[in-house]
Amino acid sequence: MTLLVTGGAGFIGSNFVLDWLAQSDEPIVNLDKLTYAGNRENLASLQGDPRHHFVQGDIGDRALVDRLLAQHRPRAVLHFAAESHVDRSIHGPEDFIQTNVVGSFRLLEAVRAYWSALPDAERAAFRFLHVSTDEVYGTLGPNDPPFAETNRYEPNSPYSASKAASDHLVRAWHHTYGLPVLTTNCSNNYGPYHFPEKLIPLMIVNALAGKPLPVYGDGQQVRDWLYVRDHCSAIRRVLEAGQPGQTYNIGGWNEKPNLEIVHTICALLDELRPRVDGRSYREQITHVPDRPGHDRRYAIDARKIERELGWKPAETFETGIRKTVQWYLDHPDWVQRVQSGAYREWVHKQYGAAAA
Ligand code: NAD
Ligand code: DAU
Repeated sequence: MTLLVTGGAGFIGSNFVLDWLAQSDEPIVNLDKLTYAGNRENLASLQGDPRHHFVQGDIGDRALVDRLLAQHRPRAVLHFAAESHVDRSIHGPEDFIQTNVVGSFRLLEAVRAYWSALPDAERAAFRFLHVSTDEVYGTLGPNDPPFAETNRYEPNSPYSASKAASDHLVRAWHHTYGLPVLTTNCSNNYGPYHFPEKLIPLMIVNALAGKPLPVYGDGQQVRDWLYVRDHCSAIRRVLEAGQPGQTYNIGGWNEKPNLEIVHTICALLDELRPRVDGRSYREQITHVPDRPGHDRRYAIDARKIERELGWKPAETFETGIRKTVQWYLDHPDWVQRVQSGAYREWVHKQYGAAAA
């Protein structure tokens, strides 16, 4: 028995691989292109572990994926690989279409060919689990109910449109060809190995570096935060017991405005690593122009996965954010190494010369 994981050197994928191999001896073949977001250092603790087979490559490389499927004969494919950052999709959507749409299509075709030729029992047990996002549902008003699996798709950014397209492909490959697919739509994750282009890790590393904390617009946009290891446990549960063809929304019932998140991070840093001048990290907060097309509010109705599969998050926001801030304080070398030349170029492009 083997799993094929795509994007397993990224933030969520690497947490998934580490958690899986901490609990199971079932091997993982990890296919990752190692874009700017992929980092083999996240998987350093698995060096020499025969249960982890890392392959650098593109999900859109049909010959490579065919070869990996034939060679390793996985019982499931877990598809994490994607371009994932909304702001980058606004600056340059092309990579998002290539990987999230064309790459997912090519992966589906390779998997369909492999799955079709499996013996009956293996064919019936096979699963393709597609890791997607709540952003496909668009944006909520302040009093709207949270996103349920039945909400219509209304993606607003190039990123969310590309993820929505991939969700539709996955759905169609089930409806038309019978491929046993599972789709998960999760809210905002945070935790260890989160690349500091996203809100929470950016605020932690900028605060510690004495840099501005750039809050878009009024900072009252709401996101629903889930500790990454809770997302990983939900994916394991969906793989184990989800019904093929079904989608499952995953969330932590933790809706918070961005400014409150930044204040919480500042308060934790004030406690755990006080500024040398004795003042609060809050003084570093700056309001910057808003993200174009910025979705105002996301919130997940996670009742289906709880009711049907018995999954619930283990962390509250308070416990998860404290662990996360502590992880960044404990891993200064990781933080320093991910802030390479390419990272500084991105910061310059997005926030201007003064922030780089
Ligand atoms: P990430 O950007 O940290 O990692 C993506 C990984 O995919 C990287 O390791 C990258 O090298 C790899 N990759 C990119 N293009 C590839 C390609 N063409 N072929 C092979 N590998 C490729 O992303 P993440 O935050 O870990 O998100 C993982 C998945 O979860 C994505 O599909 C994302 O849409 C989804 N998701 C993320 C969140 C979140 O809050 N981060 C929430 C819900 C869903
Ligand atoms: O909802 C799930 C999605 O969450 C995932 O599908 C995406 O892959 C993931 O990147 C994340 O998207 P967001 O756009 O919500 O995450 P981000 O961390 O980029 O931004 C969170 C909020 O913080 C958002 O309202 C924008 C705001 N923000 C972000 C940055 C980077 C700021 O105010 N300042 C910033 O510098």
